[in-house]
Amino acid sequence: MTDVPLVLADGIARRDAQRAQTLLQPTTFALRAGERVAITGPSGSGKSVFLRALALLDPLDAGRILWHGAPLGRAALPRYRRNVAYIRQRPALVDGSVEDNLRYPFELGVYRDVRFDRERASLLAEQAGRSSDFLGKPASELSGGEAQIAALIRVLQLAPEVLLLDEPTAALDPASSLAIEALVEAWFEAAPGRHASVWVSHDLAQAARMSGRHLTMRAGVLEEATSPEESPR
Ligand SMILES: Nc1ncnc2c1ncn2[C@@H]1O[C@H](COP(=O)(O)OP(=O)(O)OP(=O)(O)O)[C@@H](O)[C@H]1O
Ligand SMILES: [Mg+2]
Repeated sequence: MTDVPLVLADGIARRDAQRAQTLLQPTTFALRAGERVAITGPSGSGKSVFLRALALLDPLDAGRILWHGAPLGRAALPRYRRNVAYIRQRPALVDGSVEDNLRYPFELGVYRDVRFDRERASLLAEQAGRSSDFLGKPASELSGGEAQIAALIRVLQLAPEVLLLDEPTAALDPASSLAIEALVEAWFEAAPGRHASVWVSHDLAQAARMSGRHLTMRAGVLEEATSPEESPR
């Protein structure tokens, strides 16, 4: 296995130009294959800003992202976002049923080579503790937690290589949270040593379960967790 990180953030920074505020201080961060990283830290400290910057969803104000060691041109962005998948803190679903939402990505050009697999989608829903009618539910009627489950299944069925999970269980009861953790665990096991994740959580026990490396975000500064109460292991 090569030591080139799957994703390398090289001095990336984000600013709010309007308010002349720094949202993310220049940050260098390497995510290697097989690695599981947890990020904790206070609300408003920049965890989502960092994940969105890693996913190249917002323009960087400094630095660059290397993917498998190579800088990313504009043309590579759709492929990058397919493989380095950001699961939003507040999922956005389209009108229609859960199944319509799961089918939706396959209409996009970057997914032309793959087809929606209803059986696989049902299996993922079942693994997340949802009953067989979940796929038929109207997206507008989903609870916050169910919407998070639908959004995670939508991404997992596309087999990304990196998951950037932004509080994916924040709206879920403990049993459903464990089901989400199991889904991500199964995704890791599907390709041993090839996948990597960054999991943002306010739950230190979950951060410990789902990571081997723990970082904290404080006022836009990302650091290794040091104090015992911050360190899950
Ligand atoms: N696009 C943006 N433009 C300007 N300011 C932003 C933007 N996105 C986020 N912010 C600000 O950056 C700060 C960090 O926000 P962020 O969403 O990253 O916090 P967080 O650590 O994820 O918090 P939480 O734990 O509540 O999710 C906040 O003050 C927020 O208002
Ligand atoms: Mg956030």
